Amino acid sequence: MSSIMRVFKKRDALGEWLRQERSAGKTVGLVPTMGALHDGHLGLVNKARKENDVVVCSIFVNPIQFNNPADLKKYPRTPDSDLALLASAMCDAAFCPDEKEMYPEKETRVYDFGHLDKVMEGRFRHGHFNGVAIVVNKLFSIIQPHRAYFGEKDFQQLQIIKAMARIEGHDIMIVGCPTHREPDGLASSSRNRRLSEAQRREAPRIYQGLQMAAQMCPGHPPNTIKKKIISFINASAELEVEYFEMVRPDTLLPVKACVPCKKAIACIAVHAGSVRLIDNLAINS
Ligand code: PAJ
Repeated sequence: MSSIMRVFKKRDALGEWLRQERSAGKTVGLVPTMGALHDGHLGLVNKARKENDVVVCSIFVNPIQFNNPADLKKYPRTPDSDLALLASAMCDAAFCPDEKEMYPEKETRVYDFGHLDKVMEGRFRHGHFNGVAIVVNKLFSIIQPHRAYFGEKDFQQLQIIKAMARIEGHDIMIVGCPTHREPDGLASSSRNRRLSEAQRREAPRIYQGLQMAAQMCPGHPPNTIKKKIISFINASAELEVEYFEMVRPDTLLPVKACVPCKKAIACIAVHAGSVRLIDNLAINS
């Protein structure tokens, strides 16, 4: 089933339409994306659809969150199929600005997220989260949604966005959504389509490793778990772990000991050739 979906390239036109919708008493849900949409993204759109009168999905490959120019260049872009998927998911509007529309001037803002952006993704991708925070802050200001939807697949990003919303004083409910996985456990990702056949075959080891960590905790010290998981994944010639960390979900501080009653999350980044994959799993359930 499909519906007529509006496509906006200009922030003013989108803002004007949303003002009318809001003044008619409608609630607005926002799903920010970088396109190359898959079932993980559509899960967010479906949740937004259930909880709001109007659903807006943004598609913008945000250059300032890429610390590696080659990664930006290779990022998959599938605009036609993205719009078709959004229309069939009953999304009301797609916002597809170009770079000039989003960044008429150079961005200089530097956020202070304390410890949150110093570890894991923040450690290996300098400036990444500042770029994410800048673009999501802009989207929040343009769209002024009641609710905004983000995947737990990017767990650290979700925490950064909650912190940004607090810093900026946005009155927006930030909704975290569970990770969508392929039948073999690999977390759905736009980057999966760049995997070779051999890399794709081996990639489910990442989730298997996370599940092993969940089984080993409690009972084993975090360092033992870490060594075991890294060597399990690196045993594949196609994969190389960049980091594996067990942290507290709210602070992202390292877990010193696995205690059953305290929440913890295992986070991982793995290189499969030139493709970088991330995943995470709650390990205290
Ligand atoms: P992108 O990677 O396109 O992801 C858009 C949203 O979809 C994010 O909230 C992400 O966590 C979620 N998502 C991706 N894969 C998922 C999966 N397998 N299951 C559930 N949710 C999933 O994340 C970004 O774009 C950008 O950083 C963005 C927030 C749009 C800012 O540019």
